[in-house]
Parts: sequence; C-alpha cells; structure tokens
Amino acid sequence: MRRLRANPTLRRMVRETHVTVDDLIAPLFVQTGAGVREPIASMPGQFRFSIEQAVLEARELHELGLPAVILFGIPDSKDATGTGAYDADGPVPQAIRALKSALPEMCVIADVCACEYTSHGHCGILHEHSVDNDQTLELLQRASVCYAQAGADIVAPSDMMDGRVAAIRQALDAAQYSEVPIMSYAAKFAGAFYGPFRDAAGSTPSFGDRRSYQMDAANRREALREMELDIEEGADVLMVKPALFCLDILREARDRFDLPMCAYNVSSEYSMIKAAGQLGWIDEARLIDETLLSIKRAGADLIITYHAKEWAQLNR
Ligand code: PBG
Repeated sequence: MRRLRANPTLRRMVRETHVTVDDLIAPLFVQTGAGVREPIASMPGQFRFSIEQAVLEARELHELGLPAVILFGIPDSKDATGTGAYDADGPVPQAIRALKSALPEMCVIADVCACEYTSHGHCGILHEHSVDNDQTLELLQRASVCYAQAGADIVAPSDMMDGRVAAIRQALDAAQYSEVPIMSYAAKFAGAFYGPFRDAAGSTPSFGDRRSYQMDAANRREALREMELDIEEGADVLMVKPALFCLDILREARDRFDLPMCAYNVSSEYSMIKAAGQLGWIDEARLIDETLLSIKRAGADLIITYHAKEWAQLNR
C-alpha cells in the first residue's frame, strides 16, 4: 500500500475526498442596531452583527468564494409565543433583504425556529410544560413565508416538530413560493453540543431541556426514519446535526438516500478547537482541515461550519 503514498504528487493523484469552498455554508448571527460587531465569548472569531455589518462580512465571504450563509436572528424582544419569528421587520428578514440586494449571487439560507424568539427558549409554543406540535407548525409556516417574502433562497427548519416539512411546503406553495427549497434539519440530536450557540443566540431553555423534540443521541435507526419522513414530506436537502458526533449517521444516510446531504459542524465542535488552539495544544489549521475532510468523507455534500471563513482564507 505504501507505493502510492511515497510523495505528495502521488498522494494528490489518489486522494479520494476534497473539500472546496463550494461545500461550505457560513452561519451569521444578526441583530438590529448599527455598527454592531460584538464578539461571542464562547465562540472566538464569531460575532453578532447588525445588518450593515453582516453585509460587510458576507461580502468578504463572497470574495473568498463561499457560496452561502445561514442566518440566525437575535431579536430585540421575545414573547411566550415567539411572534418575533415572523416579524417582517425582525433582524432576519431585514438581513435577507440587505444581503440579497448587495450580493444577489450569494445563497441566503434562513434558519426557521422559535427558540431565539420565545421568552422561555423552547423551540415552539408551549401548552402547559410541553411544546405543542401542531400550534408550532403554524408559527413555522408563518416564519418560512415571511423569510421567503424577504427573499430567502432556502428555508431550513431546525425545530424538530413532526410534520413541519409538509406544513412548510404547503404554506410556501400557497403563498407562491413553490420555488423555495426546504433544507430540513432532519436528524437533529439533543445534547450538550449546542451550548456555545445558545450563549450566542440567548436561546437556552429557561426550564427543562429539548429532549421531548430533539432526538436521543443513542438512536441510529430512528434518525433514518426521521429522514425518510422528511423526504416523503418534500424536503429538498437533508441535514444531520451535530456533524462530528454523528459521522456514522451521515454515512448511513448517504448510502441510503440520494438527496443532497448537509452536516452541521456545530458550535461546541468549533469552540473546542478554538479553545485548544488558544492554549497552544493543537495545530489549529490542520485540525480544521481534517475536521472538514472527515465530514465530507462521511458523506456530506454541504457543511455548515463556523470555520468557513478561516478555512477559505487558509486555502485561498
Ligand atoms: C435552533 C438552532 C440551534 C442550533 C441551530 N439552530 C440551537 C438548538 O437547537 O438549541 C445549534 C447550532 C450550533 O450549536 O452551532 N433551534
């Protein structure tokens, strides 16, 4: 086997997997205000941007060849029923309009969920102490149509309610947005993986946890059933999340389904590399490379990653 590993040229010729900027989607946290570029403490190198700063950042990403961003909103105020999720003047619709007018070629993806907009931090509307599935579907429909109206190229529901892909598809079609694809967070596991993100978005649940809607990390077959259902309901792209902790799920999904497969290299996966890098314990640039390569090799076509900009800069 070593004959083909003898020098860099040979290794380059037989390399099976390549990461390119085309594969990467950069997350952006957006809020209202002006001139805001506020560092996120638990995610070094990530910021909360006001709209015009988000446009400046996206322009840099675009110049680096990155094709897409996914937006998360930090609203000025929250309420029990998450009405801010479908406020046409909220930070996400504003950012979509600004980004599409400044950078029409950039693909703007809108994450669709209630957790950033509810006072209790859960991903839907509560009925007593649990999230009401079908009432939440209505919220997701309104949010999806609101983002499509603002010009989003793709909507990406991350709430894990049952039936949300079908509900969103139906609402988009009824509002004449039949051309807007749905990228479904199909297999999204509950756990400690999203801690830094929740700091960034202020979306930690005020009581309980997300285990009654996000998946149990022990379940592989259930993840495949989630994906099968989302395909039946009309999903255009499937997502597995978190990426590194679920490479087995990603591989199995890739072998079983023919839809484009996205993996979310989540906040804790990012922050662990950043922390160890700051301590000088790891070779950060190489670890980023190897992280993205392993996700691609496991079967991802697309990777949502906070490393997108840095990777693009390092591999220009
Ligand atoms: C919204 C949402 C979350 C993430 C993406 N969309 C938070 C959560 O489910 O708690 C997490 C992303 C990350 O950790 O990077 N529901």
